[in-house]
Amino acid sequence: MHRSEKVWLALSFGMIMGFMIFTGYQTFALEMGPPSAKETIDPQRVDEIAPFNEPGVKQVGENEYEVVMTLQIFSFTPHDIEIPAGAKVTFILTSKDVVHGFQVAETNINAMVVPGHIQRITQTFEKPGEYLVLCNEYCGAGHQMMATTIKVK
Ligand code: CUA
Repeated sequence: MHRSEKVWLALSFGMIMGFMIFTGYQTFALEMGPPSAKETIDPQRVDEIAPFNEPGVKQVGENEYEVVMTLQIFSFTPHDIEIPAGAKVTFILTSKDVVHGFQVAETNINAMVVPGHIQRITQTFEKPGEYLVLCNEYCGAGHQMMATTIKVK
């Protein structure tokens, strides 16, 4: 083998190892891995299992809300969400069928919602307005229609 081939091989192998160590460190030492793998649920019985048997917006503290939401082809339940500006909101999400996305425009929220897993995201909406919620994982023929809004007042 030519010397420069060996150099490039060593270099690319080193880079791969470097990236793996870096992402492994982030995932396991800094706990930056996806949180969705921690809580599981039977995706076929979502409707019977609390809290998903009653999807909706619930006030859980003085300025704290919970939004229990199911995602299914091709909708979000509930689809009319209203929350006060400045409140701490925890979204509790699961899918009833395939992998969906939960992305809220103008925020950092961008999550994968995987059947069998429960996803929790906490966010405070400081600015009143209508926030567009989109499914950003291709989930079938109606994927492009899967959207809703969050009204912040
Ligand atoms: Cu749900 Cu795309």
